[in-house]
Amino acid sequence: MPDTTLSNSAIIAAYRAKTPASAEWAARARESFPSGITHDSRHLSPYALYVTRGQGGHKWDADGNEYIDYFGGHGALILGHNHPKVMEAMQAALADGTHFGASHPREVLWGEQIRRMVPCAERIRFTSSGTEATMMALRLARAYTGRDTVIRFRTHFHGWNDHMASGQAVHMDGTPTPGVVSGITAATVLVDPNDKAGVEQAFADHSVAGVILEPTGSSTGMVPIAPGFLAFLREQCDKHGSVLIFDEVVTGFRVSPGGAQQASGVTPDLGTFAKIIAGGLPGGAICGKEAILELLDFEKAASKGFEKIGHQGTYNANPVTAAAGLAALEIIEKEGICEQANAYGTALRAELNDVLRAEGVPWAVYGDYSTFHIFTNPKARADVSPDNFDPLKLGYEELKANAPGAVQKLRIAMILNGVDIMGWPGGNISAVHTDENRAKTVEAFAESIRMMKAEGDL
Ligand SMILES: Cc1ncc(COP(=O)(O)O)c(C=O)c1O
Repeated sequence: MPDTTLSNSAIIAAYRAKTPASAEWAARARESFPSGITHDSRHLSPYALYVTRGQGGHKWDADGNEYIDYFGGHGALILGHNHPKVMEAMQAALADGTHFGASHPREVLWGEQIRRMVPCAERIRFTSSGTEATMMALRLARAYTGRDTVIRFRTHFHGWNDHMASGQAVHMDGTPTPGVVSGITAATVLVDPNDKAGVEQAFADHSVAGVILEPTGSSTGMVPIAPGFLAFLREQCDKHGSVLIFDEVVTGFRVSPGGAQQASGVTPDLGTFAKIIAGGLPGGAICGKEAILELLDFEKAASKGFEKIGHQGTYNANPVTAAAGLAALEIIEKEGICEQANAYGTALRAELNDVLRAEGVPWAVYGDYSTFHIFTNPKARADVSPDNFDPLKLGYEELKANAPGAVQKLRIAMILNGVDIMGWPGGNISAVHTDENRAKTVEAFAESIRMMKAEGDL
């Protein structure tokens, strides 16, 4: 495999030629930001695209190049960029003022809408991000049970808070990552995905406050959940009096209008949300059983005599986010959005696999719902093909790894062909992606594979 950062790559050279304005912004950004970026997953070598505009399923870079967008606002934009009803609601809220430092009607309407859609949502507390929602979920589970230990699953991502920084991509043994005190990670137990015996052992060894997981598998199904595993966790939590937490920051309002809990029929005690729930603006929520959420309630604490959990957040349920979130959720509830995006996902995965077959590349495209993952076969197994690929037969290490250099070249080749995919590699699909977008994406993938072959990458 050639060194992909070498300047003799025709793909990299073409990228530099196509995106000089991005190169210029990236150089300036490096003077202000570590690595020139503001979110780790936007890191790309030699530099990331600078995007200046989005519309529907498309976005445009600083040089005016157009792309079909599969970042989808890190999963937030199942309605695509600038959905007219969401924009209208947001602009009306903006005109009224961005912050009243007070309760306001839009947050009540937004909360009622969520309660109608999400099975576990007896009560809700808004946050400003998914990370804050998962932090609060652990705090609630621990306070509710009076226990410390939380079971987590390797590779599952729950934001960047101290309790869950290890075990997602690094420190798979659960030791603290730099800057995290060891006492915090000692109270989380890492188990391999789908490992029932490991879960039973963790319950046997510890007094468990709760279990948290991404309910379709880590990275929205990149390491999928085995059939029956959610129901097994539900039973274990019931048996031990522990709190089951679904982190639905990505799956919420995406896999179905009621999230993975509605799709799976397994209702957790708590659900954490962000992204789609906030209509494309910053925001999140913790939803769950009234008996747990009451730990945030002044009156219940006074009448029942327990110590209330404190919770602040300047921008929680700010009126503009509330307006955007409410508008987006109303559309998702009524307009078959999840079904449309899921159908596109099924078709796209099949067609991308047709490309791999036609080109004889031992990779596979897989996933569920409106997400796709490209398995780049890091161990160069000769027998990998779309026809026999079963991610449940592979360990998380292999599913999460990539053939050296493959992602960078593939992403940049796709950009050269007018498509922006995420760095797993894979992408998030919206309901506004069209059949024409899909045909162009498939052609871009085929051309990108051919470009990589020409450079000796495949
Ligand atoms: C499953 C999951 N949980 C939590 C988070 C953190 O959310 P936020 O980026 O809003 O803090 C993310 C973000 O991508 C996520 O994918």
